[in-house]
Amino acid sequence: MQNLFSTYKIKNLELKNRVVMPPMCQYSVEKKDGIANDWHYLHYVSRAVGGTGFIIVEMTDVEPDGRITDYDLGLWSDEQVPALTKIVEAVHSHGAKIGIQIAHAGRKAEDAAEPVAPSAIPFDENSKTPRALTTEEVKGMVEKFRLAVRRAVQAGFDAIEIHGAHGYLIHQFHSPLTNKRDDEYGQDLTKFGREVIEAAKAEMLADMPLIMRISAREYVEGGYGIEESIEFSKAYKDAGADVFDVSSGGEGQIAAWGRPGTHAAYQVPLARQIKEALQVPVMAVGRLDDPILANAVIGNEEADLVQVGRGMLRNPYWTLEAAKQLRKENIVPKQYEAGF
Ligand SMILES: Cc1cc2nc3c(=O)[nH]c(=O)nc-3n(C[C@H](O)[C@H](O)[C@H](O)COP(=O)(O)O)c2cc1C
Repeated sequence: MQNLFSTYKIKNLELKNRVVMPPMCQYSVEKKDGIANDWHYLHYVSRAVGGTGFIIVEMTDVEPDGRITDYDLGLWSDEQVPALTKIVEAVHSHGAKIGIQIAHAGRKAEDAAEPVAPSAIPFDENSKTPRALTTEEVKGMVEKFRLAVRRAVQAGFDAIEIHGAHGYLIHQFHSPLTNKRDDEYGQDLTKFGREVIEAAKAEMLADMPLIMRISAREYVEGGYGIEESIEFSKAYKDAGADVFDVSSGGEGQIAAWGRPGTHAAYQVPLARQIKEALQVPVMAVGRLDDPILANAVIGNEEADLVQVGRGMLRNPYWTLEAAKQLRKENIVPKQYEAGF
């Protein structure tokens, strides 16, 4: 029987438990140069001290105009690598593994003078109308992802997550609502995402897992559902995705049509369906910060890994407290034992 504190191994990624910190933008790059700073260092390393098995660094963008805001992390320059290496090394020294989410915001790049997207369709009435990328520019964008992944590998990350969710660029390409192109990237909605995965894999060590984050359902009228996301995920699996990180929505306003509400574990059924249909490892996310519930998701084999986002913003020691509550072996660092 597996539980939240069972070890986990996929390819060369060996985790001491099933607790994952999901990517969460900190909007804290005050110098607007995409370089991680002291805030990022403390933020990630404290969750490693807090017992988290696997940490995924926030959305890190492949070009300046691929950022949601100018305060986001980037990997479009070699100068952005050393600060990330420092975080990776410190997280490792505290016993956790660490990946990074590589992304482009596309039409949701709020600070870009002219955001780019598959088609010139704005996110909403308050957003800039993006410029549709030319076919050559789409191919160039795949190369930008490739170079960002190359730098992430140089920085020493244990895994790469590609951001294909939440209405950002890759999601915009595979959604029929935002991709109205008539070139090869419109005829085949998964072509861009597949090429990004293939380019990433070519840069990654053979035994390094690639995680694909997807929105398994859209919540706008006419949006795709789980059947369609199973289909495009199959294409991504064939292209090389090893693990699916199953989220939902993001293509429209939060109060969008059809949104199921954000009760506890609301996205777990989507993760389970992707797992069953594709026979792949999955990571569940979304209101899983009750340790008993998180443990049940693993025990019931609905997901292989569980992510705790806002719960870890509230409490960097979430994992230590969960271990205590679930009466797992004592994982509290000796310096903090008096507090537990
Ligand atoms: C402050 C904040 C920033 C986030 N930034 C990202 C991000 O960079 N990339 C991403 O895929 N999801 C992002 N998310 C979504 C989280 O990864 C996670 O899916 C979501 O918070 C639901 O999990 P939770 O209920 O445990 O918080 C963010 C969420 C929060 C609260």
